[in-house]
Amino acid sequence: MFCIAKLINISKIFPQSNVAVLEKFNLDIGYNESIAIMGASGSGKTTLLSILGLLDSPNQGQYFLHDKEILQLSHQHKAKIRNTMFGFVFQSHLLIPHYTCLENCALPLYYRGLVPREAHEKAESVLSALGLQELSKRLPHQLSGGQQQRVSIARAMVTKPQILLADEPTSALDTATKEEVLDLLFTLAEERKFSLVMVTHDQTVANRCSRIIQLNKQVLC
Ligand SMILES: Nc1ncnc2c1ncn2[C@@H]1O[C@H](COP(=O)(O)OP(=O)(O)OP(=O)(O)O)[C@@H](O)[C@H]1O
Ligand SMILES: [Mg+2]
Repeated sequence: MFCIAKLINISKIFPQSNVAVLEKFNLDIGYNESIAIMGASGSGKTTLLSILGLLDSPNQGQYFLHDKEILQLSHQHKAKIRNTMFGFVFQSHLLIPHYTCLENCALPLYYRGLVPREAHEKAESVLSALGLQELSKRLPHQLSGGQQQRVSIARAMVTKPQILLADEPTSALDTATKEEVLDLLFTLAEERKFSLVMVTHDQTVANRCSRIIQLNKQVLC
């Protein structure tokens, strides 16, 4: 198998809201490919990223990572895979307001159990690689929207993810900033050889990916 991740016949039902999304959904994610996920609001794009990133479980189906079925693994084991394999970038940067940019970047490494000094060194080096070193001592509210999103990309990079999951990463940005953030994402994907799965409502953003997957509207159940 030449893919890093494979979803087979994945279905997700939310009984609380009586909706079924991703009915018997299949997806192969290749090494170092970029995939855009598009579809109407409520079609299950964020749900799909949550399942891929092991933040949520489907009701049915199989999920292989590096050819190993992972849905049956313990909560703890899944958390470990999440922390080592995936990076996340969201529409809103979700930086912790009272942490500096450096501390925000180091956060996934604290979760990994690194001592602060080691975590800060690694975070500093990622911030420098992305040209953001001058922001490291600032708090998130002291940054522009584009800078905040760049710092959240740096935070996602710090664990060297194999798959980066991005949920509408540019939808809150103006056109020029959007292009800059996209350039950064695609350059990093090329240099660091991770696969990129990006949700977007914007066709021009989707067109930059190697493949576009269209999700169908949710069904009431
Ligand atoms: N935790 C939950 N509990 C109940 N229903 C949920 C939950 N999460 C999502 N849903 C429902 O599942 C459907 C898909 O939600 P999802 O957030 O995946 O859509 P989306 O395609 O990302 O939409 P948008 O483009 O608006 O972000 C929606 O109808 C939503 O209300
Ligand atoms: Mg969404």
